[in-house]
Amino acid sequence: MNHKLELRNVTKTFNTEEGEMEALEGISLVVKPNEFLCIIGPSGCGKTTLLRLVAGLDQPSSGEIILDGKEVIGPSPDRGMVFQEFSLFPWRTVLKNVEFGLEIKGMKDKARRELAEKYIELVGLKGFENCYPYELSGGMKQRVAIARALATEPAILLMDEPFGSVDAQTRNILQEELLEIWKRTKKTVLFVTHSVDEAVYLADRVAVMSARPGCLIKCLDIDIPRPRKRTSVEVNEFREQLLMLLSLERSKACISV
Ligand SMILES: Nc1ncnc2c1ncn2[C@@H]1O[C@H](COP(=O)(O)OP(=O)(O)OP(=O)(O)O)[C@@H](O)[C@H]1O
Ligand SMILES: [Mg+2]
Repeated sequence: MNHKLELRNVTKTFNTEEGEMEALEGISLVVKPNEFLCIIGPSGCGKTTLLRLVAGLDQPSSGEIILDGKEVIGPSPDRGMVFQEFSLFPWRTVLKNVEFGLEIKGMKDKARRELAEKYIELVGLKGFENCYPYELSGGMKQRVAIARALATEPAILLMDEPFGSVDAQTRNILQEELLEIWKRTKKTVLFVTHSVDEAVYLADRVAVMSARPGCLIKCLDIDIPRPRKRTSVEVNEFREQLLMLLSLERSKACISV
């Protein structure tokens, strides 16, 4: 599976009550097949906006987003999204949540169930198929959201701070599980986070965004072999570099307010 995503000079301006608001400015980026790319940047710099554009949930004001040679013009099962907040359907069981995208695709009952069960097992939730979201912990809910995004077998997995609302220990476990799934399914992953630790632990490459209007200020290759040790000298060196870049951005944002 060799899926290539390209952003060409993408900008996004919102019309607000106070007038035009530039959220993204001239983002150009090539995400390589099977790459795990983390996007990091200060709050409000346009990370969610960028993922929504790639998902096709919104359109750029100018520029192009190209997936496998075709321009992205709307949502598609090609791009599976895991949102910032838990976004399960509360009235559906785990199985029915995971089957959702497959229903949209028009897949028949039996095939749908088999595929959903496969991904439920992959995220370690076998036995919970008939539970409702309210019966699950935060970490389990996020596993369901990941299984739902994977079930349609998308070319690209788009993840918007998927582990932001779980406790630190669960977050570490979910990160390890995600890397395992990524290794097995050979997906291209675009993962937004505001955590430097998370980015250095997960990514092949980290794209750092500036404060609003968000543009890319640096792409950093994290060339540390996996499994990575969270406390190793190399991990710490990358962490320090990223923290420095981000604090520079934060100070710029303070000056411009
Ligand atoms: N639909 C919209 N209409 C108007 N402004 C919007 C809209 N969506 C986002 N914005 C604005 O665009 C900017 C970027 O928002 P976005 O949610 O992409 O930031 P973010 O980097 O994901 O922030 P966070 O880290 O807090 O999640 C913000 O100033 C936000 O207010
Ligand atoms: Mg966001």
